Amino acid sequence: MAPPLLSIRDLHLTMTSFEGEAHVLNGIDLTVRRGEIWGLVGESGCGKSLTGLSISRLVPAPPAAYKRGEIAFEGRDLLRLPMREVQALRGKRIGMIFQDPTTNLNPAYRIGEQLVDVALAAAKHDPSILDCEAGAGRRTRRRAAHRLAAEMLDRVGIPNAEERLDNYPHEFSGGMRQRVLIAMALIGRPDLLIADEPTTALDVSVQAQILKLLKGTVSDHDIGVILITHNLGVVAETCTHVAVMYAGNIVERGPVAEVINRPAHPYTRALMAAIPTRASQRGSLNGLGGAVPNLVTPPPGCRFAPRCARAIAACSAQQPPALPVAGEHHAACIRLAESEELEHV
Ligand SMILES: Nc1ncnc2c1ncn2[C@@H]1O[C@H](COP(=O)(O)OP(=O)(O)O)[C@@H](O)[C@H]1O
Ligand SMILES: [Mg+2]
Repeated sequence: MAPPLLSIRDLHLTMTSFEGEAHVLNGIDLTVRRGEIWGLVGESGCGKSLTGLSISRLVPAPPAAYKRGEIAFEGRDLLRLPMREVQALRGKRIGMIFQDPTTNLNPAYRIGEQLVDVALAAAKHDPSILDCEAGAGRRTRRRAAHRLAAEMLDRVGIPNAEERLDNYPHEFSGGMRQRVLIAMALIGRPDLLIADEPTTALDVSVQAQILKLLKGTVSDHDIGVILITHNLGVVAETCTHVAVMYAGNIVERGPVAEVINRPAHPYTRALMAAIPTRASQRGSLNGLGGAVPNLVTPPPGCRFAPRCARAIAACSAQQPPALPVAGEHHAACIRLAESEELEHV
């Protein structure tokens, strides 16, 4: 059987700062197959972005250090591949959409030129992207790239796409720049797309449009997606699977309906309870005292134990393994069986 598109095993990443060495990723396990959209959720600072960035080795080391584990892309461990081979995968096989669109577009070039460049570069890897005859000349390829740029801009919902190609980034709003970046990532037809809060800056209707585009891309091209978000509503709408992170660990993962309807880990339950309702517009982690731990001196064993109402002494003895809840649904909690019983009290 072919290896999965992405398989992260026991990934440990540290970050050294003036405070010391922080254990920011503490044994991440995650498998993404084609056709799957994995939502990566959790409070700010839990390691979502670092997980996404480490996949294409974009976390600078130092200050980071990959301490242990592997990140296998179609069976090849990216942590042990020469950097130039990892770079060759970026933007082509592995696409990324980052949180901050201002740092990713070059202010000196027109939007169209930047999209055309990406299309031409991607076509070197996959000529079918441009949809023109094999051996077509430079001008024909440029024209095809221009057409593709306009089409993608239109697909991400930029009105008058053809004319807007002549604009510079500063002539676009923040939300429109974010849509340009999404178009840019999709032009390369990546096999794996990592999107870090891609719709957070967008209004609700544009967000819905982008998420629909993402879902369409997954079914049309059979790619895999990691969608980083703090919005569980977005996950429920868009994702096939979800992984919940807390303080550098994936505490629960599985098919989205399973995890949302039957959250098993006390942290996931707290997160779900905190979804703002009409009655309480601002979400706070209901009933959860304490704060996210310092990762330079993390609590021993389960990192959530100090805030967990169900914690017992054994929780702090060692890091809990991912235990099966049902089928592919796993939770890293040694009190799982007890939680189920409590549920029925
Ligand atoms: N360059 C850095 N140096 C030191 N610590 C960092 C750096 N980048 C991130 N961190 C720490 O790593 C943890 C995870 O960060 P991040 O992945 O950005 O979280 P998230 O995306 O879930 O909000 C945080 O505690 C953050 O403070
Ligand atoms: Mg982040």
